[in-house]
Amino acid sequence: MILRTHTCGELRDSHVGQTVSLNGWVNSYRDHGGLIFIDLRDRFGLTQLVFDKEDGAAQSILDIADKLRSEDCVGVTGTVRVRIGGENPKLPTGKVELVVTALEVFNKAANPPFVPDDYAALPNEELRLTHRYLDLRRPSMQKILATRHQVYKVTRQYFDENGFLEVETPILYKSTPEGAREFLVPCRNVPGTFYALPQSPQLFKQILMMSGCDRYMQICRCFRDEDPRADRQPEFTQIDLEMSFVRREQVMQMMEGFVRRLWKQVFNYDVPPLQRLSYREAMETYGIDRPDTRYELFIKDISEFAGKTDFKVFKDALSKGADRPRFNSKRGVVKALRVPGGAEKLTRKITDGYTDFVKKFGAGGCAVVKVIKGEDGGGGNAKLDTGIAKFLEPMKAEFLAATGAQIGDTVLFLADTYAVATKAAGELRQQVARDMGLVPKHGAEGGGGGPWNFLWVIDFPMFEKNKETGKWVAMHHPFTAPRDDQRDIFVNADVNDDDTIESIVSAGYDIVLNGSEIAGGSVRIHDPAVQGKVFALLGLTPEQAKEKFSFLLEALSYGAPPHAGVAFGLDRLIMHLCGTENIRDVMAFPKTQVGADLMTKAPSSATEKQLKDLHVASTWDPNAGASASAASGQAPR
Ligand code: AMO
Repeated sequence: MILRTHTCGELRDSHVGQTVSLNGWVNSYRDHGGLIFIDLRDRFGLTQLVFDKEDGAAQSILDIADKLRSEDCVGVTGTVRVRIGGENPKLPTGKVELVVTALEVFNKAANPPFVPDDYAALPNEELRLTHRYLDLRRPSMQKILATRHQVYKVTRQYFDENGFLEVETPILYKSTPEGAREFLVPCRNVPGTFYALPQSPQLFKQILMMSGCDRYMQICRCFRDEDPRADRQPEFTQIDLEMSFVRREQVMQMMEGFVRRLWKQVFNYDVPPLQRLSYREAMETYGIDRPDTRYELFIKDISEFAGKTDFKVFKDALSKGADRPRFNSKRGVVKALRVPGGAEKLTRKITDGYTDFVKKFGAGGCAVVKVIKGEDGGGGNAKLDTGIAKFLEPMKAEFLAATGAQIGDTVLFLADTYAVATKAAGELRQQVARDMGLVPKHGAEGGGGGPWNFLWVIDFPMFEKNKETGKWVAMHHPFTAPRDDQRDIFVNADVNDDDTIESIVSAGYDIVLNGSEIAGGSVRIHDPAVQGKVFALLGLTPEQAKEKFSFLLEALSYGAPPHAGVAFGLDRLIMHLCGTENIRDVMAFPKTQVGADLMTKAPSSATEKQLKDLHVASTWDPNAGASASAASGQAPR
């Protein structure tokens, strides 16, 4: 076999005159009759090969070279020379070419369904995932794999320098209460029992702190049986961390240091100190707990102004839960979204669509006001162009003061309970940003990507009500501690006092980057009494808590240290670092919208014998419509 002496990205003019060997794939070929050019590709680059009769290539080699086609895998030996046809400045190897004297075909490629060339049109994703081995040959995919590798390296180095130990935790495990549906694995040895795949190593890392490990890290796989989305996969990777003898400040410092190191090493970009936003500020200003702060669109609570108008929709909304505390989910509010320059850009057709848009989030509708020039065209003479002019025009000055609106702006209103109006306003803000063309494309600021708007969101509520069951659920997870100043309020709170429970603030923290949550964590409960109260509030009887979490409750009673931690979504980090909006692009072997691997055709059915050994019977009815193998089903989005 011709073994390579160099890679396809390596040869420069300093190699001219040397005899070298290369291995790789045929990227492209051009035949000029007795003179054949091939671009040979490997992970490292492209090199131009020349098969030239004039230059002494044997006819036998020319005959084989003549039949080389895209994706054939070959080895060649030859002499490096300066390119006769002139330099190709686009390629690092563009000054030279290899005049081939020996050729070995390792494997002829069947006619490929697509060529893995970044300049060719991207084939549909179903085809890419089915033939992932071809798709991954594309240089852009190789670049993503290399960035991923670099992130693993920087991560391990940074946390090693900071005294963390990498510890592996089990994949065959039991239920973890992170809120998502779990994957179950039947246990052959104990009929009728199942392992669950971990949604995260949450409890193991806490147990490791109780085991004296002090600082833990792991680049780990997590499994959640949820429908995949653009930034969500059923099987994904976290950079998982836990620290003993700390409060949230120390964890946040450590995380910021990590983000700074990563962006410095990958982009030579200095991440400035991260801005901190409380959950409440985030919800008030952006209507979401992971705000995209790259564009300046702000939500304002204008309940006070709205209450002075005679507009019935505002009045009705404000009459709801008026005796409840401010920010209470059931208290009525009126929110305004001011869109600078919206009067021109947001056409009637667009704003008409906003009513249906906000209905998806439970709101009744969306009132629209355009602030335009009045008759005399004077700057101070704003006119309100709106269906509710009759209510607003008499209070124009107050309206302009309350919303901050100026001529040329559009103001959108939502009147509902705090929970509904906030959520709808947050979603509307993002839609308006898209409609106004305000969302920057990756790389808009140059210098290796960006803009990068990192921020911390802190001071989350501990609990929220599940909309379907009406029961309390932990906003992060049930092991999250109340913020230090909230502990006593929580411990003394009546579990039936909804308003107090809703107001308890946790010691949780998220890092948000350009509107996506890239990390989430919290200070943990290390006091069995507090943990017991959380379980009770979440509806677990002491027996159920013991059955599910006896190991944790016991470990908590043997000298558990104060501890805190966090997990970064590694795939999401790579998405940002590589500028893709599709999580499937940053995983070597991702799953489709229905959780299928199109290449291996997983999941697939099991044999009778396998099921019998596992004491499992399928209740699936082949006539009920669903496909036995999701792999043969729906194409990815
Ligand atoms: P959480 O559930 O917030 O916390 O997850 C941490 C981070 O993991 C990423 N992430 C995902 N990425 C891709 N696909 C998914 N389905 C997916 N789900 C989550 C997000 C998220 O910020 N045990 C806790 C962490 C802790 O408290 O230490 C946990 O898993 O970027």
